[in-house]
Parts: sequence; C-alpha cells; structure tokens
Amino acid sequence: MSTRVLMVFDLPYAVKADYDFAKEFADPDGSYTENDVWKALLECGYEVHRLSLFDDVRPLLDAVRDIKPDVIFNLCETFRNAPHWDKNIVATMELLGVPCTGASSNALFLCNDKGLCKKILRFHRVRTPRFHAYYRGHKVWLPKTLKLPCIVKPLTEEASRGISQASIVDDETAFLARIAMIHERMNLDAIAEEYIDGREMYVSIIGDRAMRVLPAREMTFGQMDEDEPRIATYKAKWDDAYRKRWGIKNHFAKALEPELQSQIDDVCKRAYRALNIRSYARFDLRVTAAGNVYVIEPNANPCIAKDDELAQSAIKAGIDYPGLIRKVVNQAMRREN
Ligand SMILES: Nc1ncnc2c1ncn2[C@@H]1O[C@H](COP(=O)(O)OP(=O)(O)O)[C@@H](O)[C@H]1O
Ligand SMILES: [Mg+2]
Repeated sequence: MSTRVLMVFDLPYAVKADYDFAKEFADPDGSYTENDVWKALLECGYEVHRLSLFDDVRPLLDAVRDIKPDVIFNLCETFRNAPHWDKNIVATMELLGVPCTGASSNALFLCNDKGLCKKILRFHRVRTPRFHAYYRGHKVWLPKTLKLPCIVKPLTEEASRGISQASIVDDETAFLARIAMIHERMNLDAIAEEYIDGREMYVSIIGDRAMRVLPAREMTFGQMDEDEPRIATYKAKWDDAYRKRWGIKNHFAKALEPELQSQIDDVCKRAYRALNIRSYARFDLRVTAAGNVYVIEPNANPCIAKDDELAQSAIKAGIDYPGLIRKVVNQAMRREN
C-alpha cells in the first residue's frame, strides 16, 4: 500500500471540502509551490490528498480523522493571512500525532521573531547583527550600544514586507521615524539592527540528524548605485521590472574560497542546531569584505518551490526535485512525533 500523504497549505479564503484547486494551482502567482510539491509527490508514487486552510482548523481535524494520513506535508505559511500563526498550525498537527514535514512548532516560534532567534544565536557565538526590539506602546529611543547606520524592520514579518531603501537609517530622526512608521502604519512591532555591508547570500540545509549544506546562492545588484544600500528590499525580491532595470539577479555564488565555504558551512550548521531546526531551512546571510559571515535571518519554513533558492541549490547538489520532496517525506516519517 502506498504512503498516504496529506498536503496542507494556506489560501487567503475558505473553500468547500471537495474543491479542486485547479485555478490556484495553474496560477503562476498563486499556489505555484503547492503545485510543484503536489506534482512531485504524485511522481514519487504517494497517495496524495490536498487540504487548504484559511481561518478554521476544523477541516484539518476532520481530514486527519477521515484520511488517516501517514504523514502531513506542511506548506502553511499563514493562518488568517498572518505569518506568525504558522507555528500554531504545526502545533495542532503535533497534537494530532501525525508526523509532519518541515520545522517543529518550537523552531517556528524561535525563528519567526527576528530578535528572539538572534539572542539564541549570539549565545551560541554565531555572528549576527547587534539589534534592539521595539514593541508597540513602549518607549522608543536610539541606544548607545547600536551603531548607525541601522536597518529598521518589522519584528515578525517575511518576504521583505516593510523593507525598502528607506529602512536604512543613518541619523536619529530617520531611525525614530522608521520605527514609528512600522508601529503606526503597519501596526507591527519593530527591530533595528546594525547594517552589515557585504554580499547577500542564501544558504540552504536539508536534514534532520545529518545536515547537508547546499551550494550557496547570491543576490547581486547589477548597476545599482554604489552608494545605495544593496539589500533585498520588497521590490528587489518581487518586482520584475525593477529587477530588470537595475540588473538585480539571483544566481549561484561564484567559486567561494575554501576558507569562506567552510565558515559558511560551520555558521549555518551551528545556527540550524542552536534553533533546533529540522527537515530543511534557508539562511539569509551577509558576508563582509573581511570574510565574516553574519546570519541575518533563519528561515525555518522557507519556500520549497522548484524555482526557489532551496530547491535550486538541492538540484545543483545532485538531488532532483522529486528526490528532494521524497527525502523530506522520508525524514518526517522516520521521526518520533
Ligand atoms: N542587519 C542587516 N544588515 C544588512 N542587510 C540587512 C539586515 N537585515 C536585513 N537586511 C536586508 O534586508 C533583507 C530582508 O531582511 P530579512 O530580515 O531577511 O527579512 P524578511 O523576513 O522579510 O526576508 C535581507 O535579505 C537583507 O538584504
Ligand atoms: Mg529574509
């Protein structure tokens, strides 16, 4: 009997139990990750059931009771459109006792907060920028321990939402104004971090007990002015016309010095362990001219679409896409939940 996989993902609306997802899965801006994973699961020969969640967890409880999956392939990034609820979905799956791919609810809890994960990384002596977190309704000031320029970001967002060139601030007025913008306009808590000048790299790891660091990817900023901060803003990530205009590209990092590669391997493995990540993850790194590797952000629930960084790195390492998806399923099934 083939392994029964329940693939669970989020949609920004509720659908009926027998919904076919044809529209969403065919949309290149819609559920393209889900479509990639679904096809790969079928190619692996699994019995695949699909379930989307929006603002109600009951369909998950019903599906687990009725389908009795051997494993859940979890692709939820939001609940009720909020990215910080992904951990609660996983926590529910954990309570249901079904093994589940991807990070545990604990790891998601740690990694979703850009301040909390940095506290743990610093304890383990993993280089990460100095920072200060600013909660709504509390006093805001520029502490002496932070050196300008800083970057001001939402504390718990993803996909560079709220990050533009204006996020880099080099005086106190701009610093305070940007925090106020995140508090008041975005209605989110904020974090200010020291700005780390350097190369922008994305390094993925797969594995549970045995970790495998995959070939590094890099974002380069083409013709963008040398004095403009070269960061992955929302536009630099998602606006194709903007990327084209400035020559912003994502590609494999060109031949890295063995010393730098081993520092990257070491930093990413230590961060993976320190944050108790499993299954797969992607680290956003900055590498300074002096060759120091900083963890900017651990993504414990990164995009696993075929064209995205993690799967591209796996393919480069000789693991084809269905092979990657099979590995992730097998790892989850071997785990005690
Ligand atoms: N401390 C920092 N120093 C330099 N660049 C940063 C720093 N923090 C964020 N960035 C830039 O902003 C981008 C998005 O920040 P990140 O914390 O990864 O947020 P998100 O979760 O939205 O991806 C990074 O990929 C990087 O280019
Ligand atoms: Mg990031």
